[in-house]
Amino acid sequence: MKEFRIAVLPGDGIGPEVMQEALKVLDAVEQRFGIRCVRQDAAVGGAAIDAHGSALPEATIHTCENSQAILFGSVGGPKWEHLPPDQQPERGALLPLRKHFGLYANLRPAIIFPQLRDASPLKPEIIGSQLDILVVRELTGGIYFGQPKGIESDRAYDTMIYTRLEVERIARVAFEAARSRGKLVHSIDKSNVLNSSILWREVVLEVARDYPDVELKHLYVDNAAMQLVVRPSQFDVILCGNLFGDILSDEAAMITGSLGMLPSASIAGSGSDGIPFGLYEPSGGSAPDIAGHGVANPIAQILSAAMMLKYSFGQDEAYQTIFTAISDVLSEGYRTGDIASDGTTRVGTAEMGDLIAGKVRG
Ligand code: NAD
Ligand code: IPM
Ligand code: MN
Repeated sequence: MKEFRIAVLPGDGIGPEVMQEALKVLDAVEQRFGIRCVRQDAAVGGAAIDAHGSALPEATIHTCENSQAILFGSVGGPKWEHLPPDQQPERGALLPLRKHFGLYANLRPAIIFPQLRDASPLKPEIIGSQLDILVVRELTGGIYFGQPKGIESDRAYDTMIYTRLEVERIARVAFEAARSRGKLVHSIDKSNVLNSSILWREVVLEVARDYPDVELKHLYVDNAAMQLVVRPSQFDVILCGNLFGDILSDEAAMITGSLGMLPSASIAGSGSDGIPFGLYEPSGGSAPDIAGHGVANPIAQILSAAMMLKYSFGQDEAYQTIFTAISDVLSEGYRTGDIASDGTTRVGTAEMGDLIAGKVRG
């Protein structure tokens, strides 16, 4: 029996609620495909601050290092916002985890399920016949990590830096992905204002020479934000730096109906044992406004687990089975509140997880 070791980091807010449903679906995958995902839980974020005094305890890093993939919920919330910035869940745990494991490539697939056309805030004629966008976001560089950073009483600053190497490797990820999809890359920058974007554009153009079969277009980020809501179907792969990718991926997610639908994979290239290490998490956050009510949409978390099976463990059939199960449950009219519309049946987080796991079991 094939065995994989995963670190399970539920985190805060809706994190533990949606994680429980992803694990339910993993149980069903194990039964159906005869594989095992050996799970080790670890504390992260606000939950780890409360229990251990640090957002990213050493023990959590060790658990992740001893695993082949990390399944991550989400971190943060009002309870920890009074702490010094570097100790808060986002800057004290999530960003250091991404950096520690070199997870520079963040893949955020925004796919609209045809059943959810009504849930999109865009008119059907704007969505078009289908929507399948892959946001490829650089995740360990740019303004998130550039030094110096500082806060003084009357001024505060961050530094946006990109090196040639950082741009080149993320551009390759985008072009490789485009090659197996719609063969189109939109590179997003602000090269009319930012020096780091001038280098970004120059390096992306160089990388593009190795991919003559893939078309490259450049867009300024402000125009890209606008184009996404005017004609989203023009996009295939969207290549962005860290900050622009953060913003545009939430926008792309919402076009598909809800932030609760968008999974993500953060990967580091090949691991030494041949299994690409990755961290898999919903693109959205801990949603404090709905946490604890059992109404969060677990689909982004379930799809994140499916991406883990595909990218880190090579279980393409399991991925496809989960995707089809979600599609079938949506076809039967079941919806969590964020994607509900007239004539659909409203279910909670756990019921949605049960329905999807049931379909996976077959
Ligand atoms: P958010 O993504 O948590 O929520 C934005 C909106 O989307 C809210 O109305 C929320 O209810 C809704 N939403 C998000 N996921 C949903 C789901 N699965 N089902 C239904 N609705 C969903 O963003 P925010 O409110 O700006 O941030 C809240 C906290 O989460 C902050 O502390 C933030 O830093 C953190 N955050 C963490 C991550 C992460 O861990 N990866 C990502 C984003 C934000
Ligand atoms: C995301 C989140 C994070 C980011 C925050 C919580 C640090 O918004 O994963 O999109 O900005 O990368
Ligand atoms: Mn974000």
